[in-house]
Amino acid sequence: MEKMPYRSELDVTPALAVAPHVQQATIGYPVSSDWRQQLPVLAGAQVVLRELRAADAPSLFTLLTTEEVSRFISPPPTTVEGFERFIAWTHRQRTAGSYACFAITLKGDDTAIGIFQLRELEAGFGTAEWGFAIGSAFWGTGVFQEGAELVVNFAFDMVGVHRLEARAAVRNGRGNGALRKLGAVQEGVLRKSFLKNGEYLDQVLWTILDEDWAAKAVWSPKEANTIH
Ligand SMILES: CC(C)(COP(=O)(O)OP(=O)(O)OC[C@H]1O[C@@H](n2cnc3c(N)ncnc32)[C@H](O)[C@@H]1OP(=O)(O)O)[C@@H](O)C(=O)NCCC(=O)NCCS
Repeated sequence: MEKMPYRSELDVTPALAVAPHVQQATIGYPVSSDWRQQLPVLAGAQVVLRELRAADAPSLFTLLTTEEVSRFISPPPTTVEGFERFIAWTHRQRTAGSYACFAITLKGDDTAIGIFQLRELEAGFGTAEWGFAIGSAFWGTGVFQEGAELVVNFAFDMVGVHRLEARAAVRNGRGNGALRKLGAVQEGVLRKSFLKNGEYLDQVLWTILDEDWAAKAVWSPKEANTIH
């Protein structure tokens, strides 16, 4: 998502109310509530997605605050401590049941090299928005594609999302290219919808529906699996 929901200036609340660990199932999809207590570890051939930890703050600070990574996203925290606060916030939001954030790591190396975020856009998580940022050294390596498939499966199969939205600034060539490659559908352009460095940018609205994803059958249990 271009607009990361986390805003450091608003991060003054110690904890959010815990939502009931029961959620209405979206038709046709089993819904797990376990992710609110602890995110599952999602493992692919080269990528492992897991819960963020405070110890991820230094690597995320180094990798996600560069000009090329942050060019088209909401300003990331500006210090390691800011990332620590962001990570604590992600845990509170996950517990509240409105948001999940995975650290992206490579198999055999626990260093966080990026994040995938998923947030509820309507009560019950029927419609959700996702976003992602990866250290530029890992662009074009297949990390995004594999991690994205794991997260989209998580959203549809475990969270019960029905419609998954992503917004990418029209000028964000890689962001739009990555979503197109994944099979997302371009629904339109949200005119001047994202304020970045004092300028309102147009964004492309991309969506994936649960039924589209199921038909595409990207998910292959041979290539990836879920470890609880
Ligand atoms: C968005 C992001 C996670 C994608 O990861 P990635 O590894 O760069 O993505 P991929 O290389 O798998 O896919 C990008 C595709 O866009 C293509 N592309 C690159 N520049 C492009 C451009 N200007 N116009 C169109 N397509 C472009 C690439 O060629 C690639 O397609 P290919 O594999 O068929 O060659 C990563 O670029 C990133 O972290 N960017 C900064 C954060 C960000 O902008 N996040 C918000 C995204 S909405």
